[in-house]
Amino acid sequence: MSVVISGSGLFTPPHSISNDELVDTFNQYVEEFNVENSDAIASGEVEALKPSSSAFIEKASGIKSRYVMYKEGALDTKTMMPLIPERSNDELSVQAEMAVAAAKQAMQAANKKPEDIDLIIVACSYTQRAYPAIAIEVQKELGCQGWAFDMLVACSAATFGIMNGVNALNGGTAKTVLVVSPEFVFPQINLRDRDSHFIFGDVATAVVLENQDTATGDHCFKLLKTKPMTTFSNNIRSNFGHTNRCTPDTMLADDKMFVQQGRKVFKEVLPMVCQLIEEQLAEADIAATDLKRLFLHQANINMNTFVAKKILGREPVGNEAPIILDEFANTASAGSIIAFHRNHDDMVQGDKAVICSFGAGYSAGCLVIEHL
Ligand SMILES: CC(C)(COP(=O)(O)OP(=O)(O)OC[C@H]1O[C@@H](n2cnc3c(N)ncnc32)[C@H](O)[C@@H]1OP(=O)(O)O)[C@@H](O)C(=O)NCCC(=O)NCCS
Repeated sequence: MSVVISGSGLFTPPHSISNDELVDTFNQYVEEFNVENSDAIASGEVEALKPSSSAFIEKASGIKSRYVMYKEGALDTKTMMPLIPERSNDELSVQAEMAVAAAKQAMQAANKKPEDIDLIIVACSYTQRAYPAIAIEVQKELGCQGWAFDMLVACSAATFGIMNGVNALNGGTAKTVLVVSPEFVFPQINLRDRDSHFIFGDVATAVVLENQDTATGDHCFKLLKTKPMTTFSNNIRSNFGHTNRCTPDTMLADDKMFVQQGRKVFKEVLPMVCQLIEEQLAEADIAATDLKRLFLHQANINMNTFVAKKILGREPVGNEAPIILDEFANTASAGSIIAFHRNHDDMVQGDKAVICSFGAGYSAGCLVIEHL
């Protein structure tokens, strides 16, 4: 059996925030903090906070702006978090709303109706609630039958979700699978943390997977090789969880949001990812020179350039390793899928590519694909 990606979709949130907007708020907060704590800073009890800079952010990460579902509150030094109005249980949740919009596009591209889909996997880095699964809410909203579940693998969730979809198709438990990644990650950033206040944006992506013999989309990509890998690390971590409230003294501490040792991540993840891609290509008997595109995880432009150079043996040229993080920032597991979604229309029969995600866990997922 040959499994293909037969359609993809992208939902872009309604608001955007530039680096300058984020930095202005951050620097105003720093000024207020340093004035309020001036005596303690003078006596050495408290360390003065340092300002952030748009120039640093763009140079160190390549990020220029990000899309967000909710902007109100994020740029106010009193709140410094997006304020998300409560929705009743009868209303569609924010994440399901994002997922449904991306899913409808992917289904249209794959020429699929709700009755064709029999498995929905919501694969992302956080879900808004533990249960009922966001995927089952999406299933109801789209009017699909079959079964649905949520899975979290941080920045590798989308590729791991696709691999689970492939397994379901190969195992015969599904005929057409929708893998949706509603990455509602901006609310987990600590906007008071200079090291990470610029990192994430919200987005949702979706892909349809099915067997080659049922696929009718204009651009169908056969999955030649799929490989997940994980190795434990504390260098990217969020301790947010259902037991937080049982430790009231620390339930709102900074480690309940996204925290990372960015430099260590950079150094440790890159060799792992390069090895994974090189092994996959060797197993598929594909030379790097045969690749039309590298659709890489979108966390940092310097990381993408490093991986692309290592795999290709030279600087990527033109659109060989598309970058979307300048506009979207890091969108967790959706990044490589956005790059794929936006940059495959010019690909033709026989063109090969790699989709590779990597991040917390550590985790990395690599898909080698070929246009039918
Ligand atoms: C986060 C990241 C962009 C930071 O870039 P970096 O080059 O490693 O920057 P560093 O943290 O080493 O800081 C370098 C300098 O800039 C300063 N700096 C840090 N944040 C700053 C900010 N917002 N504004 C201005 N200066 C800043 C630091 O204080 C440091 O100054 P120093 O040299 O005087 O000590 C980068 O490490 C990264 O992207 N890592 C990988 C992250 C990743 O992929 N995570 C996966 C998540 S899914």
